[in-house]
Amino acid sequence: PPNLLVDRFARQIEYLRLSVTDRCDLRCFYCMPERMKFLPRRDILSLEELMLVADAFIARGVTKIRLTGGEPLVRRDVLDLVRALGRRIGRGLSELTMTTNGTRLAQFAEPLAAAGIRRINVSLDTLDPDRFAALTRRSSLHDVLAGIAAAKRACIRVKLNVVALKGVNEAEIPQIIRWAHSEGHEVTLIEVMPLGEVDGERVDQHLPLTVVQEALESRWTLEPIDKRTGGPARYWRICETGGVLGMITPLTQNFCAGCNRVRVTATGQLFACLGGREQVDLRAAVRAGGTTAALPDSKAVNAALEAAMDEAMAIKPERHHFAIGTKGAAPKIA
Ligand code: GTP
Ligand code: 5AD
Ligand code: SF4
Repeated sequence: PPNLLVDRFARQIEYLRLSVTDRCDLRCFYCMPERMKFLPRRDILSLEELMLVADAFIARGVTKIRLTGGEPLVRRDVLDLVRALGRRIGRGLSELTMTTNGTRLAQFAEPLAAAGIRRINVSLDTLDPDRFAALTRRSSLHDVLAGIAAAKRACIRVKLNVVALKGVNEAEIPQIIRWAHSEGHEVTLIEVMPLGEVDGERVDQHLPLTVVQEALESRWTLEPIDKRTGGPARYWRICETGGVLGMITPLTQNFCAGCNRVRVTATGQLFACLGGREQVDLRAAVRAGGTTAALPDSKAVNAALEAAMDEAMAIKPERHHFAIGTKGAAPKIA
């Protein structure tokens, strides 16, 4: 029987968020500073190293992998990675997904679908071109909408991630939901978390989803649906639109008791909690005794990866400790 990943609180880890790059073609103000300093390429896990990491987790019972960034589609060999991981579907993996900002989705939707991606989360905080430009400090709303349409044509289910931002997209949230549901997409609202360094003050951005929920309930009928995914979202069906709405409320309603996940950054740091500091170095494990170019002895690598995953289970905290108004509490989540 496989040696499953179970932490001190008896939570089984079956979901891995795997960041493939720290780079991004947007500069969302709640995510990065305008002058973001990206890492040198040698610090980033190679495709082969990412596969070693993924396979180690799959062997320990991880069934879902979500590729993240930065923006995963700006990584040059991302399709090779998706194809390689796609070959694990049905052989350990049950689902391979991605979270993307959508700017390059128009060209990638078809090949992603062909590689086995059935579901994708697209970050889209506004449908207004000017607001999009101000929020992302770039202007490619048109590309994102084309990307979402291409995903739909390729039969990839789309979920829109909307970070709720006080005074920014607050008043627009019902329109975004109405549009998404009319297009057949789910929507997840997200409370802004104190992750990474940004230029502004996070406390000014924070909009509690309890407030948004009240506003939505005065307009529509929200029926809670029991969709226990082990993920952080709670879900409702909106009777009037016929669509599904999720809410991720790290600050106003904690969901850590049901946690099923860990994340690995593009440099191979395994974060036991998405919003915590507890980490284990997987890059040191995969590079044990070697370099990126020539992969080292696989027995030594596997033993080092096993030890690192066990260590993560031993240090995984019970919950994150985000609080409204803290700045840069933990590294960027991705
Ligand atoms: P699915 O449930 O598979 O659709 O994925 P997801 O909603 O977890 O993934 P996605 O990458 O779209 O993340 C949506 C938001 O939830 C992002 O802001 C993530 O940072 C956040 N998030 C995901 N998992 C966790 C978690 O365990 N803890 C916290 N605090 N935030 C999380
Ligand atoms: N708080 C909440 N969500 C964030 N995202 C990025 N930074 C933050 C933050 N500080 C969202 C993105 C994307 C998802 C991966 O996380 O909008 O949808
Ligand atoms: Fe890029 Fe996503 Fe951060 Fe926006 S939230 S800057 S799209 S990584």
